Amino acid sequence: MAGLQRFSGDGSRSRIMTLTAPVVASILYPIGVVMSQQKQFNIAVIGATGVVGREFLKIAEERRFPVKSLRLLATERSAGKRIPFGEGEITVEVTTHDAIKGADFVFISATGAISKEYGEVSRDVGAIAIDDSSAWRQEADVPLVIPEVNPDDVMWHKNILAIPNCSTTPLVMCAWPLHKQNRITRIIADTYQSVSGTGSAAVAELEAQSRAWAKGEKSPASVYPQEIAFNVLPHVDTFLDSGYTKEEWKMTAETRKIMHEPDLPLSATCVRVPVFFAHSVSAHIEFEKPIKAADVRAILKDAPGVIVQDDPATNSYPTPLASAHKDAVFVGRIREDSSKANSIAMWISTDNIRKGAALNAIQIAEEMVKRGLV
Ligand SMILES: NC(=O)c1ccc[n+]([C@@H]2O[C@H](COP(=O)([O-])OP(=O)(O)OC[C@H]3O[C@@H](n4cnc5c(N)ncnc54)[C@H](OP(=O)(O)O)[C@@H]3O)[C@@H](O)[C@H]2O)c1
Repeated sequence: MAGLQRFSGDGSRSRIMTLTAPVVASILYPIGVVMSQQKQFNIAVIGATGVVGREFLKIAEERRFPVKSLRLLATERSAGKRIPFGEGEITVEVTTHDAIKGADFVFISATGAISKEYGEVSRDVGAIAIDDSSAWRQEADVPLVIPEVNPDDVMWHKNILAIPNCSTTPLVMCAWPLHKQNRITRIIADTYQSVSGTGSAAVAELEAQSRAWAKGEKSPASVYPQEIAFNVLPHVDTFLDSGYTKEEWKMTAETRKIMHEPDLPLSATCVRVPVFFAHSVSAHIEFEKPIKAADVRAILKDAPGVIVQDDPATNSYPTPLASAHKDAVFVGRIREDSSKANSIAMWISTDNIRKGAALNAIQIAEEMVKRGLV
C-alpha cells in the first residue's frame, strides 16, 4: 500500500551512529552555507518513533530547522533503534527526566500522561515544550497556536505551548480569514478522520483488516471498538455525558480558544473513516452579513497555508489521498448554503500528521525563534 511508505526506513540494519551536535549541524548546514550567525538549538523529541515523531524529523530536515543536537526519545520497546536523520542515524533512547536537561525545545508526541509529566519537567528545566496532545490545550497559561492564525499568542507562553487537534487546525485556518472580514455566528463541522490520527497501531489495524477482507477472512478490531475497514465509525475519542465525543468537544473548545471567541457556537460530529492519511471536514459556516461563494474563494486564495481547489467542471476538489504528505490545507466545494441565509458550505482536506501535528509544532518553534523568544 503506497500510503504506508511513510513508515519505511527505521534504519535498523545500518550501523549505530549517535549524532553529536556538530555532526547534526554540519549535516543540515554543509560547509559553505552561511549559518554561523544563526542560533542553533538543542532538541529532544519524545515519541520519536511514532507517526507524528517520524514526520517531525522529516519536516525538521526539509525546513532546515537549526538543530545543534537532537535526542530521540521513546519507550524501552524502541530504545536502541536507529532512525535516519540527515546523512546519519540517531539512536533512540528511553525517555527520562535527565534526557531533556539542556534542551532548548522539547517536542512531545507520545501519550497524554507523558505530555503532562514532561511538559512540567520541561518547564522546570527551562526548556520550551511544544506539545501535540490534548493534555495542555485548555490550560489558561498555555497558548494554543496555529502560526497562520494566532502567532502573537506565543508571546505569553510560560514554557509550554500546545498545538490544536488535527481536525481543528484546518477548520480554523479556513474560518479565521473569513471571520476577519465577516463575523462568523455559527459553525457546523462534520469530520472524516483517517486512522493515522490514532497512531501507528491504527494504521496497522486498517491494513490488516483490508488484507484479511481481500482474502475473504476477518481480522479482529483491537484499536477501534468495531471494524474500521470498509466501515465508518461515528466515534472518535470517548463519549461524554452530553452525547458528544471528547473529540467533538475539543473542536468546539479549541476553535474558541484559538480565535479568541469564547462563545462561538460550534457543533461537530467526528467520524473515523477507512483512510490511511489526511482528515477531511465538511463545514457549514454562518455569518453575520451576506456572503457570496465567490467572496469566500477570493479570501481563502489569499489565506496563508490554504489552497483553494474548487473547479467542479473538471471534478477538481480536495481529497485525503491527494492532500496526504502535503503541507497545505486544501479547500473546495465552496457554495452558498441553500438552507440558510448568510451561510457557506465547504469541504476541507489536510494531512493530519503534517499540518495537523508535526508541521504546526515546528512552525510554532520557528515563530518563537523569529521573535527572539528562545
Ligand atoms: N496522529 C495524529 O494525527 C496526531 C495529530 C495531532 C496530535 N497527535 C498526538 O500526538 C501524540 C502521538 O501520536 P502518534 O500518532 O504519533 O502515536 P503513535 O504512532 O502511537 O506513537 C506514539 C509514540 O509515543 C511513544 N510513547 C508511548 N508511550 C510512551 C511513554 N510512556 N514514554 C515515552 N514515549 C512513549 C511511542 O514509543 P514506542 O515506539 O517506544 O512505543 C511512540 O514513539 C498523541 O498525543 C496524539 O494525540 C497525533
